[in-house]
Amino acid sequence: MNWTTISNTPKPDEPAPNPADALPFSWEAARAELEGLPGGGLNIAHEAVDRQVRAGRGEAVALRWLGKNGERREFSYAELARLSNRFANGLNRLGIQRGDRVCALVGRIPELYIAALGTLKAGAVFCPLFSAFGPEPVRVRLVKSRARVLVTTALLHERKVRAQRGDLPDLEHVLLTDGRGAEPGVRSFHALLDAESDRFVIPFTDPEDWALLHFTSGTTGSPKGAIHVHDAVVAHRLTGRRVFELRPGDVYWCTADPGWVTGVSYGIVAPLANGATLVVDEAEFDANRWYAILERERVNVWYTAPTAIRMLMKAGTDLVRSHDLSALRFAASVGEPLHPEGVVWGRETLGQPFHDTWWQTETGAIMIANTRDRVIRPGSMGLPLPGIEAAIVRRRTADGVDLLGPGEEGELALRVGWPSLFRGYLDDAERYRQCFAAGWYLTGDLATRDADGYYWFLGRADDVIKTAGHLIGPFEVESVLLEHPAVAEAGMIGKPDAFAGQIIKAFVTLKPGHAPSDALRKELIGFARTRLGPAVAPRELEFVANLPKTRSGKIMRRLLRARELGLPLGDLSALETDEA
Ligand code: PRX
Repeated sequence: MNWTTISNTPKPDEPAPNPADALPFSWEAARAELEGLPGGGLNIAHEAVDRQVRAGRGEAVALRWLGKNGERREFSYAELARLSNRFANGLNRLGIQRGDRVCALVGRIPELYIAALGTLKAGAVFCPLFSAFGPEPVRVRLVKSRARVLVTTALLHERKVRAQRGDLPDLEHVLLTDGRGAEPGVRSFHALLDAESDRFVIPFTDPEDWALLHFTSGTTGSPKGAIHVHDAVVAHRLTGRRVFELRPGDVYWCTADPGWVTGVSYGIVAPLANGATLVVDEAEFDANRWYAILERERVNVWYTAPTAIRMLMKAGTDLVRSHDLSALRFAASVGEPLHPEGVVWGRETLGQPFHDTWWQTETGAIMIANTRDRVIRPGSMGLPLPGIEAAIVRRRTADGVDLLGPGEEGELALRVGWPSLFRGYLDDAERYRQCFAAGWYLTGDLATRDADGYYWFLGRADDVIKTAGHLIGPFEVESVLLEHPAVAEAGMIGKPDAFAGQIIKAFVTLKPGHAPSDALRKELIGFARTRLGPAVAPRELEFVANLPKTRSGKIMRRLLRARELGLPLGDLSALETDEA
């Protein structure tokens, strides 16, 4: 088996090359492929839905929803246009203004897509919240976003929001997708839609108007709200076409949850803006179910993540071979390192290698990818896309960088200037400023570039944890553990895991009067799960006598990680004591 390179397997129904791709690349040309609004405006929902209707695709299926209990519903582009118009009208009736935030805390249900598109049409800002978050991450994000509207279900409202309404003075309207709400400020999402007209004229939205707010995490502090503008649709549409080769009529399935950036950029906008049919599965991962969806829905293009790929590999090749996956033309992966075995396994069992793609919440769209026109080097993230200039750098001063050469290890940087680059962290200009130096956006990822320009991921430059593809900030988890009366200090690391990539491991010191025990360990993990949600809570917890700290009192997670993994301890000059 040659693991060094993999050529893509041609398929009989390969898309014809798009003549636009033969021309020299320019973002202006990419922008010119969009329709825009009269007077130089641009609106993501217009490009995703209304434009498709105007182009004669009104009766084509935009959204094919597969409910977890076997339900199946299809929404044509025309229907999605009408329903999102109704929601935009409803927001106007509620007094929602341009720039106001509308949050959604729901699973993968049709109302989510209607709310996202309707919010964008109304000129408001859509902010998805992962439905598996516990009450604390939900509260923090609702407070920070200053959401005026929340779309949610009766159950999620009851479990995660209702008791905290007093802490959310900006939240005026809760819209329940499956209930009527018996209290002030809570009403039915569907009653709102039913009372509105199908017709809505999108008001002028400038390409630089805020459109999407995605919370993400750093090493320190609470989550950061990354702001994206309507101009991002230029990159969403282009990358959908250039990486996935999406064309009208394709059946496309992105398995990411729209509570995270992939589930919006590539789970809503990119496929619709390219006229594809979006498959949405409400259920959680299940290997049998997933193969059945790929086969039955005749999925042409599939975007998933390494954690899922590892679980599919574990389910075995007999299972995959018992399904007809001949419709699959392109399979891709994102969010965490894709191991070479996964790439090769894809080719041997699905007939398609998994194409790794790299990007972040902040970049808004795919930056580096393996595309079908290039040979794949399994284990590499691929090459920068047209219009993207990448480099490996070493930060020299606060505003200078050294560019490093092939084979050198450093921080992955991208030359500023693509449309979906985030425009700020909400209310945190300083943190935003720190992401840039000398015209480069610094990604926080460590990587290297080989002599042929392929990029290889090495790790994170900071302490954030990637578990099952979800980016978790240690501070958010530590803060919750500190609320427990027995806990004096807490430090969190990502511990390698065969399936999830990393799991969260907590190290805890106890207050006087509390002794380590199995019962307390379980209690603390349970406490964290209730407050944070199972996706964010630590899976392992170890009691320690003390935590390594810098002289200024910061927990040195790097040392915790090195000790746990038996790695060299590195530079200890900042350590407060000689405990290491
Ligand atoms: O560390 C990189 C990792 O995920 C981070 C971004 O996470 P988030 O903002 O949640 O966005 C996830 C989906 C776009 C990156 O800084 N990451 C993303 N893609 C890859 C990756 N790590 C290795 N290989 C990738 N292909």
